[in-house]
Amino acid sequence: MVPTTLRCRRIEVKPRVYSLAMNDAAQKSKKPADSVAVMSELMMPHQVNNLGHVFGGEVLSMVDRAAAVSAMRHAGRASVTVSIDRVEFVEPIYTGELVTCTARVNFVGRTSMEIGVIVDAENLLTGEKRHTNTCLLTFVAIDENHRPCPVARLDVSDPEDARRFREGKRRREVREALDRELQA
Ligand SMILES: CC(C)(COP(=O)(O)OP(=O)(O)OC[C@H]1O[C@@H](n2cnc3c(N)ncnc32)[C@H](O)[C@@H]1OP(=O)(O)O)[C@@H](O)C(=O)NCCC(=O)NCCS
Repeated sequence: MVPTTLRCRRIEVKPRVYSLAMNDAAQKSKKPADSVAVMSELMMPHQVNNLGHVFGGEVLSMVDRAAAVSAMRHAGRASVTVSIDRVEFVEPIYTGELVTCTARVNFVGRTSMEIGVIVDAENLLTGEKRHTNTCLLTFVAIDENHRPCPVARLDVSDPEDARRFREGKRRREVREALDRELQA
């Protein structure tokens, strides 16, 4: 049956107020699985060097963005990159391949989070997938004044999560010890 009249309802759109703090993150603990971030991008000709290999900087940009999503999901706050600790380019990536970055929180301190990012490349024509990079980054959650603020604890009841946490903690201890040694 065709309606003879169309009635329009007036919809009131209220402006949404965004805040840097989306929840009281420091109160709760979260599992690493709660903040996993996956980001994929098809590599195009302008992203490769004259050997046809995707520029390292292109991969790093994706890694940084995927890690930022994971950090912000965990913290529920704006988070900034404070260091990119280690990047290993294991295999080249070529134009036409789909790059996927999978980021997860390995370790948290008071305001900082170590994020591990695994990069895979997929040849969409053959379906072949390769692990090409592994990266470790540290992010810090910041408040409305752009100062570091506490993040949620990490629930590492899963043995694999506990192993990653221990390794992240150890890396932090080694880095701090090296900093102290070099300053002395
Ligand atoms: C991130 C920032 C707010 C930290 O300020 P800060 O005064 O150094 O803060 P603090 O010394 O209190 O350190 C805060 C945390 O960062 C950690 N941290 C500081 N420098 C670090 C480094 N080089 N590597 C790893 N962790 C580091 C500290 O160990 C501390 O962790 P914890 O709270 O878990 O114990 C400040 O350095 C900053 O604004 N940097 C620029 C960030 C940026 O623009 N990034 C690029 C774009 S996103």
